[in-house]
Amino acid sequence: AVDRALRPRLLADYIGQARLRESLSLYIDAAKGRDEALDHVLLFGPPGLGKTTLAHIIAQEMGAGLKVTSGPVLDKPGDLAAILTNLQPHDVLFVDEIHRLSPVVEEILYPALEDYELDILIGEGPAARSIKISLPPFTLIGATTRAGLLTSPLRDRFGISFHLEFYSDAELTQIVTRSANILGTTQDLRGAQEIARRARGTPRIANRLLRRVRDFAQVRGNGEIDQGTAEAALTLMEVDQHGFDGQDRKLLQAVIERFAGGPVGVESLAAAIGEERGTIEDVLEPFLIQRGYLIRTPRGRCATEMSYLALGLALPKVGGGLF
Ligand code: ADE
Repeated sequence: AVDRALRPRLLADYIGQARLRESLSLYIDAAKGRDEALDHVLLFGPPGLGKTTLAHIIAQEMGAGLKVTSGPVLDKPGDLAAILTNLQPHDVLFVDEIHRLSPVVEEILYPALEDYELDILIGEGPAARSIKISLPPFTLIGATTRAGLLTSPLRDRFGISFHLEFYSDAELTQIVTRSANILGTTQDLRGAQEIARRARGTPRIANRLLRRVRDFAQVRGNGEIDQGTAEAALTLMEVDQHGFDGQDRKLLQAVIERFAGGPVGVESLAAAIGEERGTIEDVLEPFLIQRGYLIRTPRGRCATEMSYLALGLALPKVGGGLF
C-alpha cells in the first residue's frame, strides 16, 4: 500500500526499461487505433522491477479497468470464471505468479485467451454438461519471475512478452529523485546516488531505502538527505556499498567458506543458509549473477574474484573453485 503513492501512472512517467516502453507504447497505440483489446502480455523478471506497476499503467493507458489476482489465489475453475465473466470490454486482468496456476484453471484459461470463450463443466456424473460462455475481449497480463517456470502452451498464448531488466544506477537515481519529490523530502544528487547504488538494481528496494533514509535524516539530522546521511542510514540498515544485504552476504559467504568457492548445487546452498531454493533462484541469485559476483556452471554456483574482494576474503590458492 505504501508503494502506491510512488508508482508512476503513465508510461511517460515510467523510468528505465527503455526498449520495453517503446514497444509497449506502440502496441497500445495500435490496439487503441483499432478499438481492440491489447494482446495478452507476459512480464517476467525478478521481484520489484515493476511488473505490477506496468499492469496498472497498461490499464490506465488503454482507458480500461484492472482486476488484480494471483496464480495461487485462483484455486478452482469457478474462481477464474467469476472474474472473467465480470470484465468489461478491453479490461485488463493481472495474474501475478501465473506459473502457480493449477492445471485445471490453466486448462480453462486457454480458450478464454484464444477465443474469448469459457468452456465450463457444470454438474457431476451423468447430469454433467459443458457450457460455453462468451467473454468480452480482454487482456491478460501474466507475471512470473522466470519464463522457464511456465508450461509452453500457456507461454505460447501471450502475443507480447517482455523480460524486465535490472535498472542502472543512473535510472535508479532518477527514480529516487522523483520519489523524494513526491514524498516532499529534500535530497541532493549525491544522496540520491548513494541510495541508488545500494538498491540492487531494483526500484522497490530503492524506494524502501529512501523511506528509511528519510526517517534517519528526520530523527538524527535536519531532515535533508545528502550522501553522509544516506551512508550512515544505510550502514545502520546493514546494506553495504555493494548493495548487499544480510542474505546476499550470507549466500556468498557460504559459497566461499563452506563450499570452497563452489561449484555448489542450489539445494545444498539452500540447506546451508536456511533459505528456500525458490528464493535463492528468484530473489538472491539474479542480481549477484548479473553483477558478476556469482556464476552458474553446469556443476553448480561458483563465487567470482569480485565476491572475495567484496567480502574482504583472501582469494583461494590455485585449484579451489574457479581458480
Ligand atoms: N517507481 C518505481 N518504479 C518506477 C519506475 N520504473 N519509474 C518511475 N518511478 C518508479
